[in-house]
Amino acid sequence: MKILAAGSVSSAGFHINVMVHMSDNDYTFPHRNILGIEQLSARDITHILDTAKSFREISERPIKKVPTLRGKTVVNLFFEPSTRTRMSFEIAAKRMSADTFNISASTSSTQKGETLIDTAQNIRAMKPDVIIMRHSSSGAPQLLARHVDTCIINAGDGAHEHPSQSLLDMRTVLDHKGRINGLKVAIIGDIAHSRVAMSNIIGFTRMGAQIFMAGPRTFMPPCLEEFGVTFCNTVQEAVRGADVVMVLRIQLERQNDPLIPSLREYSRIFGVNRDVIREAKPDAIIMHPGPINRGVELNPDVADGKRSVILDQVTNGVAVRMALLYLVLGGGREDALQGGQ
Ligand code: MLT
Repeated sequence: MKILAAGSVSSAGFHINVMVHMSDNDYTFPHRNILGIEQLSARDITHILDTAKSFREISERPIKKVPTLRGKTVVNLFFEPSTRTRMSFEIAAKRMSADTFNISASTSSTQKGETLIDTAQNIRAMKPDVIIMRHSSSGAPQLLARHVDTCIINAGDGAHEHPSQSLLDMRTVLDHKGRINGLKVAIIGDIAHSRVAMSNIIGFTRMGAQIFMAGPRTFMPPCLEEFGVTFCNTVQEAVRGADVVMVLRIQLERQNDPLIPSLREYSRIFGVNRDVIREAKPDAIIMHPGPINRGVELNPDVADGKRSVILDQVTNGVAVRMALLYLVLGGGREDALQGGQ
């Protein structure tokens, strides 16, 4: 077993004893961009989740900072509102001593008619090391990655993918269940418009879980079976015997016309409440990527109940994003980060 110290220096009095264990000497993380779970193999996913577990310890320290990415510049380029994801990436970068800059849609020159590529080329000319991008159009980070040689991390593109959310979800399931392979995962709600659903369908099935879904027909994407998931007619059926119950928000911002008669009716038929949860395994965990619409897709007694791991997801978000920044910048490859130490 190879053990790599993530920033094996003790500059400025910080002792870095975060260990990244690699069980396979031949493996090197092969990606400079994280555009989607689709591009990640099961081995890549396992490596990211192991690395995140090592980094989690830094957030428990009284001084939550290591010099691993000192001298690196991380730009948060967000064209859609975000609190949790943007803050989580920013905290992750700062805990590793990177310099961070936030550019949001309202402050970017795209408001003045500049194209996305021009904005990106201009940012690139200032030599950042990583661009973290959120955009309402599916494929925007992929487009960016074709035009700039800076590392790109997709922080959510339209209804397409949200890879870091899926990775933090998998980390959380691993913490509570010890495995992903063979688990029954129920995903309830607006699947068709949810990038979290898409990334999780790919990620969890790739890691050997079985996915069962329920929600209004108008919220189901076509060709579900192609993804190897099972569509259930009722929430109760999807949740029956589940190890993990993942509840999704209705993505009203991505629906041109209302696809359900009313929120009240949605909540009555598809809302996850205590009665629904009784169908799951006694030790099932409840997840939600946030923001929660309390009383619509999820009842407060379940969201705040003892089986809820929603805040663990948020905590793991920082660790997973630290791991992603570290790995895309070459962490684990000999000498790759030396310039930043
Ligand atoms: C997202 O950005 O997709 C969120 O994390 C989930 C949501 O907005 O419902």
